[in-house]
Amino acid sequence: MTDLLDRIWSLLSSGADAGATRSPFTMLQAATLGLDGAPKARTIVLRGVSQEEASLTFHTDVRSEKVSELRKDSRIALTGCDLDAGIQIRAEGVARVVDSVEERSAFWSASRPRTLIVYRAPLVPGTVIKSPIDAHATAEQGNVDPNAGLENFCLVTVEVNRFDYLDLAPNGHARAKFVRENGIWHGSWVAP
Ligand SMILES: Cc1cc2nc3c(=O)[nH]c(=O)nc-3n(C[C@H](O)[C@H](O)[C@H](O)COP(=O)(O)O)c2cc1C
Repeated sequence: MTDLLDRIWSLLSSGADAGATRSPFTMLQAATLGLDGAPKARTIVLRGVSQEEASLTFHTDVRSEKVSELRKDSRIALTGCDLDAGIQIRAEGVARVVDSVEERSAFWSASRPRTLIVYRAPLVPGTVIKSPIDAHATAEQGNVDPNAGLENFCLVTVEVNRFDYLDLAPNGHARAKFVRENGIWHGSWVAP
């Protein structure tokens, strides 16, 4: 089971490798408990993976609804799927909304500028507008403050405590579950 656990982390790491071509695990679906108690799911880009810390990191707008949801209930589920290989990885864990300016600034500086433009948007995500153009950041001329939008930039780090791995291999499906208790992973095969 240790090899399989390493493989799961490796697949997720390839998803977060910003320098490489996109992998099937670059975009994950992240599910939270909505403020109304109903499930909410959305796509996010996986930006960081640490097997040592059992963590997955993505970034988002601090003003977005998912941040309010996670501040209320930090449980989160993330799912990714490689359609060609027939592999699904599901992760469950506890999200930490990173407030530290140092941690956020480090990630911000390491990000490509074009991925940060969205954080300069003046309107709170979800604000009702007349037309999409009303939400576009005003055209930037000349030198733009490299930290413009940093105040809206939010890192979310998920400490993973469960994985569910499913491989729909043509010669036989295989499914495994992993649970992390006191920092130790326990894995078992389960019926698909
Ligand atoms: C391909 C793709 C990638 C996305 N990546 C992110 C992301 O990394 N972070 C993020 O906050 N939203 C991302 N979004 C937008 C979210 O799916 C979602 O629409 C937005 O964050 C608002 O969600 P919320 O209202 O549940 O907070 C992405 C959307 C798409 C289509």
